[in-house]
Amino acid sequence: MIVLEHRIAAGRPARECLWYAADFRNLPQWDTSVTAVEKMTEGAVGSGARFELRTRNGMREQLLHYEILRFSPPFAATLRGEGDGVTVVDEIRVEATDGGCTLHWRVEIRLRSTWLETLARPWIQRNVQRAARALERALRAPEPARLGFGGHLADRLVLPGAARFTRQGFQAARLAPIVERADGQHIVITGATSGLGEAAAIALARRGARLSIVGRDGQRLRALVKHLRVDSGCRARIVEADLLDLEQATQAGQQLLQDDPPEVLINNAGALFAERDESPQGFERALAINALAPLLLMDTLGPAMPSGGRIINVVSGGMYLTPLRLDDLQYRRGRYDGATAYGRAKRILTVLGMRRARAWPHLAVHAMHPGWADTPGVRRSLPAFHRVMRPLLRDAEQGADTAVWLALSAAGAESRHGVWFDRAPHPIDVLPSTRLRSPQIDALDGQLSTLIGPWLSSQGAAA
Ligand SMILES: NC(=O)c1ccc[n+]([C@@H]2O[C@H](COP(=O)([O-])OP(=O)(O)OC[C@H]3O[C@@H](n4cnc5c(N)ncnc54)[C@H](OP(=O)(O)O)[C@@H]3O)[C@@H](O)[C@H]2O)c1
Repeated sequence: MIVLEHRIAAGRPARECLWYAADFRNLPQWDTSVTAVEKMTEGAVGSGARFELRTRNGMREQLLHYEILRFSPPFAATLRGEGDGVTVVDEIRVEATDGGCTLHWRVEIRLRSTWLETLARPWIQRNVQRAARALERALRAPEPARLGFGGHLADRLVLPGAARFTRQGFQAARLAPIVERADGQHIVITGATSGLGEAAAIALARRGARLSIVGRDGQRLRALVKHLRVDSGCRARIVEADLLDLEQATQAGQQLLQDDPPEVLINNAGALFAERDESPQGFERALAINALAPLLLMDTLGPAMPSGGRIINVVSGGMYLTPLRLDDLQYRRGRYDGATAYGRAKRILTVLGMRRARAWPHLAVHAMHPGWADTPGVRRSLPAFHRVMRPLLRDAEQGADTAVWLALSAAGAESRHGVWFDRAPHPIDVLPSTRLRSPQIDALDGQLSTLIGPWLSSQGAAA
């Protein structure tokens, strides 16, 4: 038998470290010999949960079947794995310390024969050591979020900034795994039935959040609830609403207020339309779904959200090239361009989100943009862009990363507002033409408040 032990100093709470290490779906992030992991049992990670690991050592691929024999958060877990000619027992023990915790990792490996163990020992030792170092890097204290000189310059030069929107840009950012947890926190996600919203819902449910998922398609909402229950044991609540319709957005807000107001609201639902059309209340559709509905939800839930809460508005890098037309918010003049209407609406949401952050000292209100991610929305609304850019697009998980990080990280609560991309704060304007002066923002706020005012006051009347 080969026995290896490692002691890992972690700058995080014991609970986060144990969950991260024992949920073997995280293994490919810190053990390079593991190429894929699937959880084979339904429900939350805990005693009895089983995983199938696909490993690669040189040319050799192997399957390992693991089971969690004991799971006692926040301090201990034991896992046992079996494969062709190999048995592994991993003992994880966590001790709280002043600055975080110490994680003790003990691995016992049995191979077919003792001579094989003698032969393989140096190689196994090297691999386990490498994994322990990577686990230590994953568990160290989070670093402050900042945009370096290169990032500032890239933003100012626009094109190099946009090159970072790609999958390759995400990989170059070398972001640490998200180890933080959301146990018991109530998180609302709009537009959770597809793309980035769905990826965020899965990631947050895996980290223990209680979710309310808002969408317009009951069948797809129910399918997601089922998936979340199987994947992580999360029992998500459905709020069905077509957010283009402010009447339904208002009802969704009231429903979400009924029980406990959320700690986090992720305003993710959004759309880009090829042609101008109007919502049931006569608003231009891009304005209605990308600005009016999220503002209405923000203004409904924000004042009731607990201190330290966060609102995360999913916007778009497209807003950087799109100045606002304060005299034509409904895009009634000129030839309609869907990308321009979309960029303008996202800019409105960003600017007024910042305003709300100033008015509500108990909350952080962030805007984040995901870069370019391959989602059903992009495939549908920008087919030519999708065809050409496909190899460069992020996956939905990468696109949702900053929203998930803002929902969970200390930085998401400490910095009260910002425009975030790949977990770093970015300027709201990179071109002088998009800059708004304070009186213009006042005027914009006034116009938008007039547009959504009747629905906000109908809530006051209902309450
Ligand atoms: N993917 C990117 O590269 C990218 C880039 C910049 C910004 N964004 C932003 O990221 C967010 C998510 O986009 P995505 O790419 O994941 O697109 P997606 O796959 O189309 O997902 C959008 C989500 O919003 C929901 N939604 C749309 N209209 C709605 C309505 N009227 N009422 C209720 N829900 C509605 C959709 O519901 P259904 O499932 O019923 O359609 C879907 O769940 C959007 O705000 C988008 O503007 C995305």
